Amino acid sequence: MLKDSEIKKVSKDDHPRKENVVSQPLNHQPIFNEPHLITESWYPVCPASTLKDSETRSFTLLQHRFVVWRGKSGKLYAMDSFCPHMGADLGNGNVIGENLQCYFHHWTFLPGGKCANHKEANNTSYPVEEKYGFIWIYPGATPSHSIPQPPGLLNQEVESLYLKKLKLYAHHHVMMAGGIDLQHFKSVHKVDIKFDYQVTEHEKHVHIWNLSGVLPTGSWLLNFTRWLTGGEFKYQALFAGGSIVSLTYGNDLKFRGRGFSLPTVSILWAGRPTSDGVSEVDIFIVQPKFKGVLAPLKKIASTLFSVILLAALRDDDTKAFPHMRFNIGLTTEGDKSVMDLVDRINLLTVSSWTKDSHEK
Ligand code: FES
Ligand SMILES: [Fe+2]
Repeated sequence: MLKDSEIKKVSKDDHPRKENVVSQPLNHQPIFNEPHLITESWYPVCPASTLKDSETRSFTLLQHRFVVWRGKSGKLYAMDSFCPHMGADLGNGNVIGENLQCYFHHWTFLPGGKCANHKEANNTSYPVEEKYGFIWIYPGATPSHSIPQPPGLLNQEVESLYLKKLKLYAHHHVMMAGGIDLQHFKSVHKVDIKFDYQVTEHEKHVHIWNLSGVLPTGSWLLNFTRWLTGGEFKYQALFAGGSIVSLTYGNDLKFRGRGFSLPTVSILWAGRPTSDGVSEVDIFIVQPKFKGVLAPLKKIASTLFSVILLAALRDDDTKAFPHMRFNIGLTTEGDKSVMDLVDRINLLTVSSWTKDSHEK
């Protein structure tokens, strides 16, 4: 495992993509691992509490600047940042009721982007929502899917805990593939499970992978988990739109294989490419909304479980990313699950925000 001090020394930009281009050329994919484009999906913008009622601010996602504002009612709206009059940043404007007024010459825009002063000066608006204590933007006209809940907590009331923003040393698609890279469980995590998986479509551009296998004996942790679950281990991975992956560990598991249902752990990662060619990811722990007198205790136990699991996985995986230049070379039968995900991501829709950079 690399120490934090060692990680600081390794590449934090896209240099590996530009290295060895003659002897080891990159096999570009249409979408997967391509740092200059984003797919139509949900992307976290900022913590919801940092944009108060009647406030406006602009943000960027790669080379696209958009403005988000909260009306007097608290409702969120988003559109392209530059005023159609002379290009002032509408993030410097004023919110009047639910509308956004440009600072420069006071042209006013309605929530859908229509200009109240000149009907030829409409602006393009975008879907924006609040979930998990964050504001999320969708860089397309109409969302093909909702901001997902973890696969083990679908249709449940949930609450979340924001852990942190992490700079990745690889594209976030590569990190997503780690969740279903069945071979690395043995090589990196030292857990030799032969997983079977099945993929179902949950919504357009949202797929759930159901993985199950039999736990081997080994470390005390493995042996304990084996005892606890009766030997089986299941988890689910949900991939949404190429920007979000959420894992639920232990879904449908019973104590000793037949008793009461064991608690699950659900984590959600939302990634976005950064202009230096790598990615950053916001990490959330998502839990069912615990009820009753034991709710605070259950919440503490669930949080503790999640943090321990995350720390264990991160420590093992840390060394895989530095200098990672994901490139599909010779693949084998064991890489089927990864290739399956690569193919699915390549079928997503590229956002118009980055279409130009994709074609160049
Ligand atoms: S630049 Fe916005 S109103 Fe003139
Ligand atoms: Fe891993």
